[in-house]
Amino acid sequence: MSQSENIRPELVQKLKSQSNKEVAKLCSEAENIRKKFVGDKVYLRGIIEFSNLCEKDCFYCGIRRSNRNVERFRMSEKEILDCAKWAFKNGYGSVVLQSGEIANKEFVDFLVKLVEQIKKETKTADAKKKGLGITLCVGEQKKNVYQELFDAGAHRYLLRIETSNPKLYEKIHPKECSFENRVKCLENLKEIGYQVGTGVMIGIPGQSVEDLADDILFFKKIDADMFGMGPYIIHENTPMRKYAKKWNAGKNGQLRLALNMVAATRIFLKDVNIAATTAFDALSPLGRDLALKHGANIMMPVITPKKYRGKYLLYEGKPCIDEDAIKCKDCHIRRVKRIGREIGFGKWGDSLHYFKRVGI
Ligand code: 5AD
Repeated sequence: MSQSENIRPELVQKLKSQSNKEVAKLCSEAENIRKKFVGDKVYLRGIIEFSNLCEKDCFYCGIRRSNRNVERFRMSEKEILDCAKWAFKNGYGSVVLQSGEIANKEFVDFLVKLVEQIKKETKTADAKKKGLGITLCVGEQKKNVYQELFDAGAHRYLLRIETSNPKLYEKIHPKECSFENRVKCLENLKEIGYQVGTGVMIGIPGQSVEDLADDILFFKKIDADMFGMGPYIIHENTPMRKYAKKWNAGKNGQLRLALNMVAATRIFLKDVNIAATTAFDALSPLGRDLALKHGANIMMPVITPKKYRGKYLLYEGKPCIDEDAIKCKDCHIRRVKRIGREIGFGKWGDSLHYFKRVGI
């Protein structure tokens, strides 16, 4: 029997934790491992959702190209730079540049220039000359594009696999999307030298607990450094809405499963970074706090200007859309303090797994 065959039933059991006793056991195991391998600090990545223009048509996503009810935007270079500089001044350490997926040259050139500019302007202000850490989350691109962006100064990339079950992947994406290509993109990113993040949505219609256990085995196999997972949340203007309404396990059930997924990932993968993602807050006002208490160690405060927030709705009930960056910062500080943890201000907070993986 291979190692993964041994581990799968154990993962399934952990993911099914329901009773107070089971949950307490899972939580304390995840938290002990989190403490031992990555410590108590919570690192921030200020997320700039700089464009909702998208060429893709994913069945679950609110900014899919077929959704005509979305007013499309792309922030200007100056607007994005101002956000990045604000994050740097406020000790965020890193930003995530996230957008809908566009693969043309004009978009890539815009992004390359932007990454170079952010590095240039923040390096001069930084004693250690590392400047602001830049994570990209702009979807599937050609390997040479990933390389160009890496050379410009981005050092992390997030690309969720969404589900590691190829059949389920096919069901939630149009035919033009290829599971194999997505995996290939993750491999390309690793080869180039990025710290690579992936993840899945939890509670997709048709997804089983076994699928989620297999997702964690996939995480191990692809040997990624960072994970962003969150509950799948319905968006009314998407085709998946009708399946989801029948499938829905209810907010509490979905939250439990998503938290169990974070905990099981921490227990199994140990030294990786795991984000308490925004979607957790769509299920409960304390959603992200709970994720931090189940093994997560990263938070991604939104720093997108308020005027764009309502246009970047991947799902419904997205929190903080009426807030600005300052309010979000205060809120994060309060929340992290309340659970007895501390924010690692001014630090990149890189994935320790990455250093081990590349032998630094
Ligand atoms: N619910 C939850 N997460 C979603 N995403 C897209 N649509 C939804 C939704 N309806 C997630 C995807 C994507 C990330 C940027 O947002 O996992 O990778």
